[in-house]
Amino acid sequence: MASSTTITVEVDDVMYTDDVEPRLLLVQYLRERLGKTGTLIGCDTTNCGACTVHLDGVGVKSCTMLAVQADGHKVTTIEGMAKDGTLSPLQEAFHQCHALQCGFCTPGMIMQSASLLKENPHPSEEEIRDGLEGNLCRCTGYQNIVAAVKSVADGTVYDDSGVSTTAGGSQTAGVS
Ligand code: FES
Ligand code: FES
Repeated sequence: MASSTTITVEVDDVMYTDDVEPRLLLVQYLRERLGKTGTLIGCDTTNCGACTVHLDGVGVKSCTMLAVQADGHKVTTIEGMAKDGTLSPLQEAFHQCHALQCGFCTPGMIMQSASLLKENPHPSEEEIRDGLEGNLCRCTGYQNIVAAVKSVADGTVYDDSGVSTTAGGSQTAGVS
């Protein structure tokens, strides 16, 4: 058995310290060790984006990272997006805009969309499509996904803390 390495990672606001094999992928650690099964595996070629999570607030494909590379960092998964039973603005928008069918791509789409909006709070439709080009959807044709992201962009401002503020000024759970 390969030697293990001790890592300490904050995942969805909870600190975890675990011994992991150096070759263990971050997506495997999240799913198999922490039970974060909302982070999906759709390929083994870094193409689909279903495994997208945030590492220190930036979208990353967790199948392309080793768990040991997350040592000392903050990871947010789709399970960490809703706060106190309230969906994040993007989750709500995907629901309202019918931006999913089978739903397999949805966690990764939402995580990448959140990362995109944090970097560019008011993207154009073209910028949304560019920002999501690494996330594949076999069902929707993307139109409603883009519409969902645009609806959040048009009504929500994201600040550096990751807290979103609606156009009306109220605070809502936002991106990490
Ligand atoms: S499972 Fe990571 S990109 Fe497809
Ligand atoms: S909703 Fe089925 S893959 Fe996107």
